[in-house]
Amino acid sequence: MSGRFIVLEGGEGSGKTGTIAFLAEALRARGHAVTATREPGGTPEGAALRRLLLSDKGHAWTAEAELLLMTADRVQHVERVVRPALARGEIVISDRYVGSTIAYQGAGRGLDVDLILEVHARLLHDFWPDLSLYLDVAPETGLARSRARLQGQGVDEGRFEGLDLEFHRRVRQSFLDQAGRAGRFARVIDAGQAADAVQAAALAAVLDLLG
Ligand code: TYD
Repeated sequence: MSGRFIVLEGGEGSGKTGTIAFLAEALRARGHAVTATREPGGTPEGAALRRLLLSDKGHAWTAEAELLLMTADRVQHVERVVRPALARGEIVISDRYVGSTIAYQGAGRGLDVDLILEVHARLLHDFWPDLSLYLDVAPETGLARSRARLQGQGVDEGRFEGLDLEFHRRVRQSFLDQAGRAGRFARVIDAGQAADAVQAAALAAVLDLLG
């Protein structure tokens, strides 16, 4: 028995979190077992890494250190959460995966994408999703949404939100390039639309995968 691994990728404030909650509920209502999870932070160990990685206060990781910490989070997450749930036949939906490393540490920070792919091949055994949904929104729009949310909730997770617009433009372009290369394993969804339109498009893509 083996489940399906679905990943949502996208820039800041692209609405991944709300879309995942919607998908999980819609799929459960259709009788599927669903594990909704995220990176970084999908395990207790990863939650500690998430604080170190996203806190705006006093952390200035180098790009290489960021890659290793994101990878540590991912190894733990795949081993302890994703693979066991897939082995139980569940649908696993993850808020971000290696596409975010390619976009943020690669295109954004300037790390060699071949290095990221090699690390992924060696440490994650080249484990890729069955489907990646790329929620695409202009960085100006997404950052405004995301900063409003962080401020409103008083959450100290603003380290990437604080980077400049050019950084976030490179991240967006990388996601679009990745989607282009992934062919039938990827869908781009216009996340500038109203939330219910984004959710409907995401569900249609997932139901298509499930056949
Ligand atoms: P996330 O929790 O998805 O926040 P948001 O809902 O604001 O998008 O974001 C986690 C942050 O971590 C996000 O700024 C992107 C960053 N990140 C990377 O830089 N590399 C990675 O490999 C991952 C998984 C996340």
